[in-house]
Amino acid sequence: MTVNSVVLKRTFELHKEEYEQAALRALNSGWYILGKEMETFEKQLAEHLGVKHCVALNSGTDALILAVRSLGIKEGDEVIVPANAYIASVIGITENGATPVFVDADEYMEIDVDKIEEKITEKTKAILPVHLYGQCSCMDKIKEIADKYGLYVIEDCAQCLGSKYDGKYAGTFGAIGCLSFYPTKPLGAFGDAGAIITNDDEVAERVRLLRNYGSKVKYHNEINGVNSRMDEVQAAMLQVGLKYLDEMTKERQKQARLYTYKITNKKVHIPAIHEKVDHVYHLFPVLVEDRENFQNYLKDNGVNTQVHYPIPPYVAECYKDWGYKWNDFPNAGKYANQEVSLPIYAGMPDEEIQYVIDVINAY
Ligand SMILES: Cc1ncc(COP(=O)(O)O)c(C=O)c1O
Repeated sequence: MTVNSVVLKRTFELHKEEYEQAALRALNSGWYILGKEMETFEKQLAEHLGVKHCVALNSGTDALILAVRSLGIKEGDEVIVPANAYIASVIGITENGATPVFVDADEYMEIDVDKIEEKITEKTKAILPVHLYGQCSCMDKIKEIADKYGLYVIEDCAQCLGSKYDGKYAGTFGAIGCLSFYPTKPLGAFGDAGAIITNDDEVAERVRLLRNYGSKVKYHNEINGVNSRMDEVQAAMLQVGLKYLDEMTKERQKQARLYTYKITNKKVHIPAIHEKVDHVYHLFPVLVEDRENFQNYLKDNGVNTQVHYPIPPYVAECYKDWGYKWNDFPNAGKYANQEVSLPIYAGMPDEEIQYVIDVINAY
């Protein structure tokens, strides 16, 4: 049997006819940018999450860049971010000329909230938790620290749409939540797309301006903006995905439960889940000391896996001038060496999950 990490076509085929109808509706409308489909999607997602505003954008990376920019964070400012973030989370900071200040990860593979305060200086403007793998970070503690020091919270929710901390949706705790609808994400588009969510009218208005050359009225450019608008076809298809988001999440949660309870091989460590978190399992990470052997063994048995992420952002080639070393952040360094993402996605057949479990237990 061959098992792939993710098969997007299978997720698409779960609701193929509705996706096709939605795409055709947008195509036949004759209006492709900043139209009704985008407005409808924004409204539906904001309602789903119980926030005032959703502003649809071109990608999750743009969401992070414009979120940071909309709060006036710039050169000379510092933003606290987990050391095991995805590179785009860091780009959101550096594209604005600000400096990322890294904090190591905890046993949940999220930002270690006990190590945040020691990194705060007079230059710190925001904390940017990255809710990796589908698990919201410890938001009560992050909010408490942010409130104590007067800092913004910008949540990178690219991997965790639908995850909750203590019953509240990720992305709704801070000033802004940033979402990605990259095709593999919990709510996947059929190309690039992203959004920000916020309860702050001014922030929403500012991101609306920023995404459209800084203008509300054509050719009247109030601020220095960019072009980052979600197109109508993506917005139409995302409305279909949103309808089935909870259903797709439940399916991945079931797959994750099977992995959690049935993988018994002691060489494969399944990281802890915080008791207050509803995990949406965008990914299913495990930690294995001899990762290369393990991945090769799985591959020889037809099981393809991925690594999220093999190189931590603080030692990325593009940031080599910062001079960080791999073990400056021991947990993030360890996760980069040991993490393996097992196949998981809506539409993955049960027999494939069972096959992966059997192969792993025989390792
Ligand atoms: C944690 C995280 N942040 C940001 C992004 C960037 O999103 P996009 O690919 O839509 O630009 C991603 C997507 O890969 C991500 O996983």
